[in-house]
Amino acid sequence: MTAQNQIIEALNAARHIVVLTGAGVSAESGIPTFRDPLTGLWQRFDPMELASAQAFRRNPALVWGWYEWRRMKVMQAQPNPAHRALARLAKHTPQMILVTQNVDDLHERAGSRDVIHLHGSLLQPRCFACAREPQSRLPVPNEPEQGRELEPPRCEHCGGRLRPGVVWFGESLPEAALSRAFSAAQEADLLLVVGTSGVVYPAAELPTIARSVGARVIHINPQLSLEDGDWGIAGAAGEILPQLIA
Ligand code: OAD
Repeated sequence: MTAQNQIIEALNAARHIVVLTGAGVSAESGIPTFRDPLTGLWQRFDPMELASAQAFRRNPALVWGWYEWRRMKVMQAQPNPAHRALARLAKHTPQMILVTQNVDDLHERAGSRDVIHLHGSLLQPRCFACAREPQSRLPVPNEPEQGRELEPPRCEHCGGRLRPGVVWFGESLPEAALSRAFSAAQEADLLLVVGTSGVVYPAAELPTIARSVGARVIHINPQLSLEDGDWGIAGAAGEILPQLIA
């Protein structure tokens, strides 16, 4: 039996699947991963210097401009076969929970429901001062060429600046999302880890939790790194997942 057949059998037999996705799943939709160097207008910036509260305090227009550029990229992008295959998998599994570190909405647009966003969302800004969310949706972002720096809109409640609704360096993950993800991993019989480097905690703890309850951990990544007992297929999610979930 090939590894692929073994994995298909395990997916068929699983009663409770947890899927953990990372930037690699959105890479084939044209959204760069975190370890890819920034390109174009943003190439001289380090994401570490844009994705923090200190950076926002220092230069809110620069940070907001960067996130607006990223939001525009996401709005222009389409879900790829990996997103669609995962939405299909949920329909054929008694219980499946999709946990993502991605801040885009490509899983939802591919048809996945109730996605747990561990690192927040580019599409749900909140006030930097009072944390309340605006009632109206943000307008479609400007083209990045129209100005790299963009003054953030003001909060309709307190007049503070809006910030992107993502988790920045040095911030805690949203508690409810994290606890749902951990509980799901404790109940899983199979954890499918797709397109994540697995270096950022606490998301990277999910495989450890799943292994500790005896779940099979399966990785899909062009750069596989497997712990003892894990299974994996080296390759692009958009090619491998549709074959596994056909
Ligand atoms: P990374 O950029 O660290 O890793 C992307 C992973 O995707 C790597 O392991 C690649 O080998 C893999 N990959 C690339 N192309 C792929 C493809 N076509 N199919 C499958 N896999 C592919 O991204 P994440 O692991 O998501 O946190 O990063 C985790 C967190 O680090 C991010 O959410 C972000 C960052 O700091 C926050 O913003 C809080």
